[in-house]
Amino acid sequence: MKPILLIDDEPINHQLVAHALQPLEHELVFANNGKDGITQARLSDPSAIITDVMMPDINGYEVTRQLRRESRFAHVPILILTAQSGLQDKLKAFEAGADDHLSKPFESAELLARVSALLRRSEAGPGGSGQASPAERARLIAVHSLRGGTGSSTLVVNLGVGLAALWPNSTVVLDLTMTAGQVALMLNSALRRTWADLARFKAGELDLDALQSVIGSHESGLYFIAAPTFPSQAEALGKESFATALQLLKEQFGYVVADLPHDFSEIALQALDAADVILMVASPDMASIRATSAALDTYTKLGYPNSRGGIGSTGGFCLPSEQGRAEKGEAAPPNRGLDAGLSPIL
Ligand SMILES: Nc1ncnc2c1ncn2[C@@H]1O[C@H](COP(=O)(O)OP(=O)(O)OP(=O)(O)O)[C@@H](O)[C@H]1O
Ligand SMILES: [Mg+2]
Repeated sequence: MKPILLIDDEPINHQLVAHALQPLEHELVFANNGKDGITQARLSDPSAIITDVMMPDINGYEVTRQLRRESRFAHVPILILTAQSGLQDKLKAFEAGADDHLSKPFESAELLARVSALLRRSEAGPGGSGQASPAERARLIAVHSLRGGTGSSTLVVNLGVGLAALWPNSTVVLDLTMTAGQVALMLNSALRRTWADLARFKAGELDLDALQSVIGSHESGLYFIAAPTFPSQAEALGKESFATALQLLKEQFGYVVADLPHDFSEIALQALDAADVILMVASPDMASIRATSAALDTYTKLGYPNSRGGIGSTGGFCLPSEQGRAEKGEAAPPNRGLDAGLSPIL
């Protein structure tokens, strides 16, 4: 059984928590400050983490934020235990990415109940010991459509915000439509750093620090990398640098949701190759159907397995056979995809 990690600078709290959690019969690992807590988390692979807020080096909110940036801690339950009990303190805990919050002094029974609930939930959720479906194992979700204006970017942003609401700080959205990126605008966020800021890094030089400098954050807990203002700015971003960036992002986040350009350009192909799931967006018009069919044909030629794809439609879309069924008042079968052996994935 994996241990529970307690990060607190007061030895008395180690004893109080250990006593409260005795009925769980979990091993406990202790850390006396924030930095040691992060090290212990990496070493001990805990099933849950309990952290104090006020500590001599970095506080519990920062510990939580730093751990959540590492993909292996994206789904590990974190409970913030603190003497601060105001609403703002509770909100800060959740904003930092914690799953729960408990004020000190605490009742042993309440701490036990909360930690038990967190452990149960994490065992059932992504990364838990439960049987994960292919969609739950998915990491990079590439949203693709050969036709513009079908709602791809809207879907990407909503999907990102939705995932971030379920698992705070787990998700980064990549705006790869370098010619007319809208993600930052849709998130109502100022365009400070974009992919263009990575162009000065040569292949092999791009590291996590450089990448983090272009990641924007949204109040929902979603992270994003925006497309540059001018298409020409992204041209300098090399193929190798982009591949490295995708790899680093996949290691850091639980979900990477990419808004692909409406073509098979180099950048689209790289993202499609790295994708665990390709989500195609179609709208109810012949041009979109034709574009979807052409894309599916190309995926087959590229050797992508059917299990990687899914089709979503934006707004009142149904296939001719379903149209007839709908007119006759018959219910459509659930989860119907286009006739390509694909099924909806999320
Ligand atoms: N489900 C939907 N129902 C109705 N309108 C929608 C839906 N999704 C998106 N839209 C609207 O359709 C328009 C195009 O959406 P969006 O920018 O997301 O598409 P896109 O495929 O990313 O387009 P492009 O990349 O070519 O600019 C927007 O005005 C958006 O508000
Ligand atoms: Mg778009």
